[in-house]
Amino acid sequence: MTTRTLGFGRSADGVATLGGRPLRDLLLEAGVPTPAYFYDLSGIRQRIERLEQAFGAAPHVSAYAIKANSAGSIVRTLLSAGAGIDAVSGGELELGLRLGAAPRKIVLSGVAKLDREIDRALSADILAIQAESPLELLRIEARARALGQVARVALRVNPSVSIDSHAHVATGHDKAKFGILARDLGSAFETLQRSQSLKLVGISTHVGSMLKGTDPYLESARVVCDVAQAALGRGHALEYVDFGGGYGIDYGPGELPEPATYVSASLRFLAERGLEKLMLVIEPGRSLVGPFGVLLARVVQEKHSGSGGDDERRWLMIDAGMNDLLRPALYQAVHRIEPLQALPGGRPHRVVGPVCESTDDFGEFSFDAAPELVVIRDAGAYGFTMASEYNGRALPAEVFVDDGKVVHVSPSPGVESWITRRLEA
Ligand code: LLP
Repeated sequence: MTTRTLGFGRSADGVATLGGRPLRDLLLEAGVPTPAYFYDLSGIRQRIERLEQAFGAAPHVSAYAIKANSAGSIVRTLLSAGAGIDAVSGGELELGLRLGAAPRKIVLSGVAKLDREIDRALSADILAIQAESPLELLRIEARARALGQVARVALRVNPSVSIDSHAHVATGHDKAKFGILARDLGSAFETLQRSQSLKLVGISTHVGSMLKGTDPYLESARVVCDVAQAALGRGHALEYVDFGGGYGIDYGPGELPEPATYVSASLRFLAERGLEKLMLVIEPGRSLVGPFGVLLARVVQEKHSGSGGDDERRWLMIDAGMNDLLRPALYQAVHRIEPLQALPGGRPHRVVGPVCESTDDFGEFSFDAAPELVVIRDAGAYGFTMASEYNGRALPAEVFVDDGKVVHVSPSPGVESWITRRLEA
């Protein structure tokens, strides 16, 4: 058996590969137009298996944050390795259920759950609805009472922790809309104490995305454990603590800990707190899928301005735009962009998309000569799920690769579909 390079790689002669196969061959095999996402299911499988192993015999749920990438082929790969789902909408919850996730491995998060979303969670009997405010807890109670059920709930606490990450992806500081602050927990516990329709089963948190190490994670875990101990002290039959997701990935600056490292640190921490009997729930999204997806784009043309001096500008204009991959425009995120058939390097160019917005700019990368195709790396998370049809552009195709072979193609709906829907609107 040959061992393939999982995720993105380069052959000895500089040809870009995914799952060990030249991306150019995969593009031909898939027969899709660019821009197109390519994912390596083997890489994703190895990641989740290692994560699951890190738990050993500890009771746990790796609740995959399905918002990162909701493609059926990917979610099924994760579920069959034992993962559950963290859903933040009725749509994500329904998708998770229809993909076959075990209901007791699903948590429903989200700051403003609709009554019908709460109802669906109740009818599916999921692990817990994670309440994000005392008032939401009252709304969950009202729905449970109306349906004659007892709602399994968790309190998502806001631990007032600031993380070293982009402001747009930090959720655990005290001005964020997310979670229940320490000062508001009393009122949540009062509701729980008197209600016949609510059962407190968990304490959860999520402090934000792109953590660069385990320290801020454990800092918020400490708050979760404090609240869990308080809940146990009040006689609640707590089943789990949920430390959230947020494990960062290497977009270029250097290696970061693998998800399994966060799990080992969390288990040690739980044991120190004497809470190892509780189930440990985590909510990783990006770290399970981000490194195993790329966006392939075609160079439309170059544009040069000025001649050699300080005023010289060089652009590489590609057929993927901010509608296909929003992260650079929204968070100034940098995704490495490299030629498909040659090593990166040469003269600096600004790589831009065709969308009529100045923020449709992927950053500065160096190329010798304008390549025919480029690969945008680490695009497996928050890529397709945040894509839109802005500027009358079709959603990109998605290609799923397993063991070096194309196993599924999800074609682009095409621009004709957009035109038809707009004509009918
Ligand atoms: N749990 C909850 C409640 C969340 O809100 C999130 C992400 C996660 C788990 C998963 O976090 P992860 O492990 O993927 O970091 N669109 C942004 C990221 C937004 C994350 C939102 N919440 C980006 O592209 O960087």
